[in-house]
This record gives sequence, structure tokens and C-alpha cells, in this order.
Amino acid sequence: MEAYLDCNSTTPLDPRVFEAMKPFLTGRFGNASSFHQKGQAARHGVEEAREKIADFLGVEPGDLVFTSGGTEADNLAVKGAMESLGPKRRHLVVSAIEHQAVLDAARNLKEKGYAVTFVPAGADGVVKPDAIKNAVTDQTALVSVMHANNETGAIQPVQEISKIARARGALFHTDAVQSLGKIPIDIEAIGADLLSVSAHKIYGPKGAGALYIRKGVKLKALTHGGHQEKNIRPGTENVAGIVGFGKAVELVAGQYQKDMEKARALRDRLEKELLKKLAPVRVNGDEARRVPNTLNVSFEGLDGETLLMNLDLKNIYVSTGSACTAGSVEPSHVLLAMGIPEGLARAAIRFSLGRFTTEAEIDYALAEIPPIVERLRKAATHAH
Ligand SMILES: Cc1ncc(COP(=O)(O)O)c(C=O)c1O
Repeated sequence: MEAYLDCNSTTPLDPRVFEAMKPFLTGRFGNASSFHQKGQAARHGVEEAREKIADFLGVEPGDLVFTSGGTEADNLAVKGAMESLGPKRRHLVVSAIEHQAVLDAARNLKEKGYAVTFVPAGADGVVKPDAIKNAVTDQTALVSVMHANNETGAIQPVQEISKIARARGALFHTDAVQSLGKIPIDIEAIGADLLSVSAHKIYGPKGAGALYIRKGVKLKALTHGGHQEKNIRPGTENVAGIVGFGKAVELVAGQYQKDMEKARALRDRLEKELLKKLAPVRVNGDEARRVPNTLNVSFEGLDGETLLMNLDLKNIYVSTGSACTAGSVEPSHVLLAMGIPEGLARAAIRFSLGRFTTEAEIDYALAEIPPIVERLRKAATHAH
């Protein structure tokens, strides 16, 4: 038996997506920029995918640029926007709970001489609009705050934040990699000028993503080469990946509410029983305003990395938000930015469910986790 409870890291490819991709990995192998029939067959696949994604996001196909994933979309948004704006606006505001793709792009800009403000979140994992208001100035070019956090699932008040940014003449970018397929995305209501998405979090292939760019917003390309994707993202298109992304979005459009209803019921059951059996357990992130598939908990008194490895031995796959830097394990930057003490941050585990998560997997996890946690807690007490 195994339980894959790490869908925020990546999801399995939906078999229907695989079927849609296959022709583009075999007979329809043309270069989408070639004028002959083989090229046009590939071009058709790319443009059909663009239409499907645009349709679901309620934008025009021409507003989307395909990228190699969420990381590149985030980099293109943050660096591309900052570097295309003039000397009057050299200030960037990002939340401290962003994915590394945004945070590291921001740090890179800082090294280049841009002013950057990192805004922490509240204890509930939510970035407060007032904190953004205090950070934004007339020199701010861009504000970047994610739609839903990958570690806690906390949904951010992007609508209010975009209003604050735009009122000061700044652009607003949101990383919607973890909200796509989980909660509705209404780009107009959010007020996003730039929005990042990725295929492999929604049962599509790895290495495909897109950036929505509002008409009139100028971005400086990060790479240089051919004329693909309006010169913003040159390079021969990942045709099969893009086709798979389009199919994955089409499937999300038809069934994400149903998928998430199921995931929510299973997540809630997992949470309730873990809290009951293993107190003290702390839920990290706003319980009411969370994407339905995510549960981040700290098992007080033990180390999350150790728990992860022990669960792995039982074929239960979860995640910690910690990062390995220079050989030592650093606790999650997201939990620390919420003001969670280091010990509790180190005790955190993220469970993330999806379309294919079964009742049997949750049963299995609930049977295996309690004795492991109890054993590790005992061992930790003896060690002290
Ligand atoms: C919020 C968020 N942004 C960006 C990314 C990066 O996306 P990709 O893996 O497609 O580069 C991820 C994936 O881990 C994510 O969770």
C-alpha cells in the first residue's frame, strides 16, 4: 500500500492528458514555426491549447505566453517587469511567503541595485493588505503576492492588495500556481496585470507553464533568440507539453469543483483524526481561508524531516517546507515569515491531496502515522 499525499509538489499525469500529448511526441513532431504541414500541425496544437487556457482564465489567447513552468513565469513577471520600467520606479514589493521563484528573483534584483521590500504574513499565513499599503510608495513598480500559498494553502487577499498597488501606479503580479484547479481564478476581479500558472500541479506534464500579461504591460525578455511567443520567450515551443497543459486545463474546467469537494472531505477527515489522536498538533495557516486540498500541521515535539523519512519507509509521501542549504536543513521560510517559532516550524508536515487521492490512502495514512509519531516523540524525549 502507498499514499501519495504530496500533490502540491507535483501531481500524476492524468491518463487523458497523456493521450492528448502522444501524437505530438510521435507523428506530429513538427516545429511550430515551420511553414509546412508538419509545422502547422504542431502550431495548431499550441494555439488550441492557448485558447483552452485563455478560455478558462477568461482572457484572450494573445494575453498568454508559454514558459517552461511556474518558475520561469514568475521570473519573467518579476524581473521582466522591473527591468522594463524606467529609473523612476525601481522599488519592488513581494511577500515573504512567496515561492522561491519570486523570492530569489527579488533577491537577484536587489543585488543589481533595485530596492526591495519583503512583507511578512500574519500568524494565520495571510499577508495583510495594510502591511502592503505601508510598503508601497510612488517609486514602487511592482507588487507580487501569491494567490494561494503552496505550504499552508492560505488564500491571500489579492483583490485588496492589487487595488493598493494600482492606486499607487504599480503593477500587480500574482503567482496562481497553487490556486489553479483548486479555487476560482477571476483575473479581472483579482486585478492582476501578470499571473503565473504551471501544468504539473494540475495533472499536466512537468516543464510547461504560462504567464498572463495584461495588454499594454511591457516586459523585458530574460532570454534572447527566435521570435517565438512575441519575442518575450524565444525558443522552439515545447509542443507536447503545451498540448498537455491545454488538456489538463480543459479537464480542470470540467471537474475541479468535484475534485476539490472530494479532496476537502478527505483532508478534513485526515485533519480531524490527526488532531484527535496526536495532540498537541497545530494547524498552520488560516483554517477557514485555505485551498481545499492542503493540510499543514506541526506535530509538537518532533522533527518534520525525521517524520517524513519514516513515512517514506511506509510509502507515505508528504513534504516539509524546509530547504537544504549548505548541508543543513533550514525550517520553512513561509512558517518563519508567519512568526511561528523555529521548533514548531521544524515540526511541520504538509499533506496535499488531489484528484486521484482515495479513501483507502487516507485510511492507510491514518493507520500508519499515529504509531510512528508516538515512537518518534518518545525517542525525542529520551534524547533530551
Ligand atoms: C506557488 C508556486 N510557484 C511556483 C512554483 C514553481 O513552478 P514550476 O515547478 O512549474 O517551476 C511552484 C511549484 O513548486 C509553486 O508551488
